[in-house]
Amino acid sequence: MSICFSKMKKMIACFFLLFGHTLLSVVSVMAKDLPQGHFLRRRDVNSQYLLENTCNNKRLDLVFIIDSSRSVRPYDFEKVKEFILTILQFLDISPDATRVGLIQYGSTVKHEFSLKTFRRKQDIERAVKRMMHLATGTMTGLAIQYAVNIAFSESEGARPLKQNVPRIIMIVTDGRPQDPVTEIATKARNSGILIFAIGVGRVDMNTLKSIGSEPHEEHVFLVANFSQIETLTSAFQTKLCGKVFIYSLNAYVKVKHRKKICIIIKFF
Ligand SMILES: *[C@@H]1O[C@H](CO)[C@@H](O)[C@H](O)[C@H]1NC(C)=O
Repeated sequence: MSICFSKMKKMIACFFLLFGHTLLSVVSVMAKDLPQGHFLRRRDVNSQYLLENTCNNKRLDLVFIIDSSRSVRPYDFEKVKEFILTILQFLDISPDATRVGLIQYGSTVKHEFSLKTFRRKQDIERAVKRMMHLATGTMTGLAIQYAVNIAFSESEGARPLKQNVPRIIMIVTDGRPQDPVTEIATKARNSGILIFAIGVGRVDMNTLKSIGSEPHEEHVFLVANFSQIETLTSAFQTKLCGKVFIYSLNAYVKVKHRKKICIIIKFF
């Protein structure tokens, strides 16, 4: 009886192992079926996909924070502008969908335009093209603080927290901050702002990680030079337009089932 019971336990465990494996396969297949999506290389989404999927009606309050320090050369500064313009292409800009603000910083912070300044994409594009390089210091902490206190205030056009509009900072920097960033970046994230940190060149990875949201693989990026920023565009479309939520959901399901299987086996 007890032997039989133990055999039965084994069989049930085996069943769950098999069943669990099937579940995992199903989830993997689902992931493969997603357009151009695969877990490991989902950043390689091609540009055709980029154009097909705009962030229609996507409600976001997005503020760019651009490092305009002296170490950023004029050519690099143009590359950053191009990057912003490419991102703007797929955003659904309107007061009811995505609102965009832009801060650049050197030794001081310059609020180029706030979330409420423009209602139309072409006006934002024009403002980005006109932006002048500050070519001074690197007060990254000050810029983030400014974003938290001012750029994301309702008086500057951020939608009230109760509307649950995602608040996003996309910060591009190429250097070591001249002021502390960890505390203010933590405060920003704790206030509900999602921060994407993009480092260029010889940026200290730990500094970037202290700025960006977790998981860092999803929110912290390092590229070799300003020409390489454009390689991040499709990844950002995926993230900003909500595809990321599908991907993470799948990843979540995958992990969750694995956990469940372990629990079931333990239970028997
Ligand atoms: C930027 O970095 C890439 C990859 O490391 C390299 O191939 C390219 O030549 C660099 N471009 C410039 C302008 O330095």
